[in-house]
Amino acid sequence: MLNVVDHIHTNRDRYIEELKQYLAIPSISALPQHKDDLRRCADWTAGEMRRIGLENVKLIETPGNPVVYGDWLQADGAPTILFYGHYDVQPVDPLELWESPPFEATVRDGELYARGAADDKGQVFMHFKAIEAHMKKNGRLPVNIRVMIEGEEEVGSAHLDEFIRAHKRDLAADVVVISDSAMFDRGVPSICYSLRGLVYFQIDVRGTKSDLHSGVFGGAVANPAFVLGQMLAQMKDRGGRIKIPGFYEDVVPLTEEERTAWRMLPFNEKKYRKDLGAPRLFGESGYTTLERAWARPTFEVNGLLSGFTGEGAKTVIPAVAMAKVSMRLVPNQHPDRIATLFENYVRKTAPKTVNVTVTRMHGGKPWITSYDNPFVQAAGRAIEQGFGKPPVFCREGGSIPVVSTFQEELGVPAVLFGVGLPDENAHAPNERLDLDNFHNGIVASAILYQEIGSMGRP
Ligand code: BES
Ligand code: MN
Ligand code: MN
Repeated sequence: MLNVVDHIHTNRDRYIEELKQYLAIPSISALPQHKDDLRRCADWTAGEMRRIGLENVKLIETPGNPVVYGDWLQADGAPTILFYGHYDVQPVDPLELWESPPFEATVRDGELYARGAADDKGQVFMHFKAIEAHMKKNGRLPVNIRVMIEGEEEVGSAHLDEFIRAHKRDLAADVVVISDSAMFDRGVPSICYSLRGLVYFQIDVRGTKSDLHSGVFGGAVANPAFVLGQMLAQMKDRGGRIKIPGFYEDVVPLTEEERTAWRMLPFNEKKYRKDLGAPRLFGESGYTTLERAWARPTFEVNGLLSGFTGEGAKTVIPAVAMAKVSMRLVPNQHPDRIATLFENYVRKTAPKTVNVTVTRMHGGKPWITSYDNPFVQAAGRAIEQGFGKPPVFCREGGSIPVVSTFQEELGVPAVLFGVGLPDENAHAPNERLDLDNFHNGIVASAILYQEIGSMGRP
């Protein structure tokens, strides 16, 4: 193992230069004009997987962007890892807020700035380099591995459930490994054992055929912007509790053990608030900030559009108003059931003075696992060696739709070991990746393969 770790230390600079090439491909899955870039990125991923020594590397077509698959299955008697990640990235707007171009990765103060640096190309690449190091030094891996990198995670992985069901046999493994989340904090590596789910909607409100003079018609018709505001205001009470009837019915309450464990985490609420630039924090009463962000469901307005928003003033009653809204879900809420409850509530709260339509968009199921299994312990040892500290266990508020599908369809545990940081601007301008974490993550991943490989087949 020492020779592998040495090799990783010696190649640190090369890894960064190679990752820059990966990050140069604008694989934005949300925007149709980038369709070709997604394929180019899938090809690049496949090329890299061949270069590092994986076998059977291929693009597998789906109705959307291809899945890149490769494996190495010659470690007789050792367990098999299914490594999952995504090569697609989020849009980059607002572009003017980037300090360097999003697809020209740039190093500043030990951080690599680019869209996808942390979410998720940098973290996928970290595992590629761990595989490469084993191959280069020993000509083999200490464990069997199947690698599956998809291109639609950032748009909800719509085709992946079907894909997994159809390829169950080809994906057979003993454990799923994912690096697509964040560490608890700088210097505090972590293992994530739960993710929230998601259900996303667009609400369209139409009042009249066209915009109206607000003096001539004001007072005689309903204003869609105002109606939409009133409807949104009815989604939550003042204490931050969601008012959709039945919304909390399936929520599994937090246990006292879990709450106690979280109180021991090195969380500095004042710093958290300051870093966010929020005058005050806000959330559901009766819960701490970590509980609100990890284990309680939310209702959020993601976007809002109506009327005149240019410079100056225009006296107009807008014909339409639109909102994008989403709900983060926790175990055991189901996106389909919550979607129905939401639609019913919108129907109930929509006044007859306007036409309201709701359109369901993407989503995913929440996921939770127990973390007392040998794979998680192996990951703990690997992280300790890579980062010099054992990991803490935490939940995360974000969503990775496919994780619960892996659990249900393949029936194996998942280990989520992320090396991003909460302030690395995933989905925002100036996304970045701490290069020490990237490097330590390569070491930890290489050791993780060794640790799991030496476990023997369960
Ligand atoms: N990597 C994130 C999810 C994540 C972020 C997990 C932080 C843990 C901590 C992933 O790429 C993501 O952004 N997912 C989307 C899913 C959605 C588009 C269905 C999300 O959470 O908004
Ligand atoms: Mn991600
Ligand atoms: Mn993401």
